[in-house]
Amino acid sequence: MMEFQNRNVISIQDFSRDEIDYIFEVSRSMESVAKVGSDVLKGKILATLFFEPSTRTRLSFEAAMQKLGGSTIGFSDAETSSTKKGENFVDTIRTVENYADVIALRHRLEGAASVAVECSRVPIINSGTGAQEHPTQALIDLYTIQKEKGQIDNLKIAFVGDLRYGRTVHSLARALMNYDVELFLVSPEVLRMQESILREVKGKISVIEKQSLEDVMSEVDVLYVTRIQQERFSDSAEYAKLRGSYRVDLETVKMAKEDMIILHPLPRVDEIAPEIDQTVHARYFQQVGNGLFVRMAILSLVLGATK
Ligand code: NCD
Repeated sequence: MMEFQNRNVISIQDFSRDEIDYIFEVSRSMESVAKVGSDVLKGKILATLFFEPSTRTRLSFEAAMQKLGGSTIGFSDAETSSTKKGENFVDTIRTVENYADVIALRHRLEGAASVAVECSRVPIINSGTGAQEHPTQALIDLYTIQKEKGQIDNLKIAFVGDLRYGRTVHSLARALMNYDVELFLVSPEVLRMQESILREVKGKISVIEKQSLEDVMSEVDVLYVTRIQQERFSDSAEYAKLRGSYRVDLETVKMAKEDMIILHPLPRVDEIAPEIDQTVHARYFQQVGNGLFVRMAILSLVLGATK
């Protein structure tokens, strides 16, 4: 029996493969619900507490809630909240749980979502914590792969970019442990995935680290590109050195399979050339679109409107 009502969404590893499949089934049904709207979450309130910047995650959660008839409160800049006055994080959560039925939380600190769970009666959805996890983005990424390629098993998937600080790649790598895939990791040396996560993932699937994109370009089915997470660098000179160290452009994809798809959680900075948008490979804006459906599914399941 799968039970989603009142579940916290903290790590992608909170979900089994069967549960992920079920979330995708609900997401698919949300594609038509999104066109006309629904009132299954009427009277319910989502609080979005974003202590770090966001465009897609916060707006898609809010849109998802409203498409289902619910409403939203929250802040997108903690500088305008009582945090500015010195209120601690726990008191903020203990306040907001009185106003909302579910809380979507983004925070600079790893572990913030788990702390919030400890002091909240209402479910917490981790919407990005430090470099640690971004589980709903991983669900969107997988859903997009499934939809575009018809399957996830038997694919060769390459992650390119900041594998050290990127939380989306950390969640997606863990999510892929449920599938029969080959994973290639391509990054500058200093941005390699941490040993602890590598070890975890290597225990389940084949992981091969590569120096350059050219080494894998001709064989991959999915290219997942990320930006360098500038805000996680303590030394801005180090960021300046790395900036522009990889870029996917028309030249890069020349060797690619015709049906290779490119994903990116966005925002992009300069790691995917704009000319790529017009190629048969680009799927990152479809991925953005899927974010709405997957987040509608998550809210509907967590709030018990879908069993
Ligand atoms: C990502 C994030 O916040 O981790 N953005 C997103 O939610 N799609 C990726 C990023 O900021 O690079």
